Amino acid sequence: MTERSWTKLWKAAEAARRRAYAPYSKFHVGAAIECDDGSIVSGCNVENASYGLTVCAERNAIGAMVLQGRKPKRVSIVVDHVRPVPPCGVCRQVLAEFAEMNVEVRSKTLDGQELKTTVGELLPFAFTSAFLDEAKPKTKKQR
Ligand code: THU
Repeated sequence: MTERSWTKLWKAAEAARRRAYAPYSKFHVGAAIECDDGSIVSGCNVENASYGLTVCAERNAIGAMVLQGRKPKRVSIVVDHVRPVPPCGVCRQVLAEFAEMNVEVRSKTLDGQELKTTVGELLPFAFTSAFLDEAKPKTKKQR
């Protein structure tokens, strides 16, 4: 993947960040996903007066991707912070639901510091639907 091809994705994440609704934490996050058809979807964090209801930028972007019926090809995250932020644990799990382990995740600050990683690095040994698909041998009682 060329560096140039990230430019559009960063722009989308930056635009999403400007829409963040984060009056409580004041921590504004934007995320953008390039989908398997080349389209870009984005999301921002949306907080709530009932703090625990907050939804991260990444998960909102994933929701938009699902609505388009697409799969993630790469993910970008933008914050205005002293260092780039990785996705939280919940977002890693939600990403792992849809993304191949080699999908690149890059996070950036507004002053250009960058963190480059992958879904597999962020969540090794993920719990996925593969585990649910494995048939458990029936016990005598169940037969
Ligand atoms: N947040 C995100 O949107 N994405 C992350 O990767 C880390 C945290 C949000 C949640 C909350 O609105 C604020 O940042 C502070 O935790």
